[in-house]
Amino acid sequence: MHRGKGMKFVGDSRVPAERKPNIPKDYSEYPGKTEAFWPNFLLKEWMVGAVFLVGYLCLTIAHPSPLERIADPTDTGYIPMPDWYFLFLYQLLKYSYASGPYEVIGLVIPGIAFAALLLAPFIDRGPHRRPLKRPFATGFMLLTLAAMIFLTWQSVVTHDWKAAEEQGKIVQEAKIDKSSEGYQLFQKNGCINCHGEKLTGGAAAPSLVDTGLKPEEIKKIARNGKGNMPPGQFKGTDQELDKLANFIANLKTK
Ligand code: HEC
Repeated sequence: MHRGKGMKFVGDSRVPAERKPNIPKDYSEYPGKTEAFWPNFLLKEWMVGAVFLVGYLCLTIAHPSPLERIADPTDTGYIPMPDWYFLFLYQLLKYSYASGPYEVIGLVIPGIAFAALLLAPFIDRGPHRRPLKRPFATGFMLLTLAAMIFLTWQSVVTHDWKAAEEQGKIVQEAKIDKSSEGYQLFQKNGCINCHGEKLTGGAAAPSLVDTGLKPEEIKKIARNGKGNMPPGQFKGTDQELDKLANFIANLKTK
């Protein structure tokens, strides 16, 4: 921008006389260094795009997304897990100094870290660009990186992957007549709290579909319990128990 002395003015004093036209030269002025956008350049772009598209298609077919069963709002035992990129935050919240009454710390530490990123241009005003000449910025970056890798690794090795697979398993559902007497008894006696709305089980109990159990065996379990199922779950009459046991014994996927 020209200012002050030596400036020539045309009629309008705001427009300098020697204004250069802002038009780029034609590409024919750079022989051998340019190519036509259409079709040469676009064709190359599309070929690369097609290769990636086919690559992603193969990847999605070879590794289908790890879907779990449909979310069940009555299943309070389900422990959700964030995706890999949030595992370090998830892990941080597990430590006693960053959870419960100190939960604020678990939220404030990452908050400060992200705020510091926003403020970096104002805090780090040094002229240097080489990492070695910016010891504080580099040091904090390495420290954060190390903490994130450590926390992610910790959350992976301390997670119970078998239980996670179990709780999300897609189970076969049976057609259930919710107005039937058997289902009413299943609800009334609280079996539903552990075995789930669709009797497909959950974190607290196994599925009751396709058990292959006879009504007699189910009656015994309902009264006496089994393994982790406490006894005395059924509180009704023998007649009702007959109905409930027959209802469960007939739960089949086919
Ligand atoms: C407190 C949770 C809880 C409640 C309530 C509950 N169950 Fe269970 N049930 C379990 C657990 C846990 C098991 C798995 C026991 C084991 O094999 O260790 C189980 C297993 C069973 C089985 C055997 C399934 C199989 O494939 O072996 C039957 C049948 C059953 N329950 C029926 C009932 C009925 C009927 C009721 C209601 C009267 C009921 N349960 C209430 C927790 C519960």
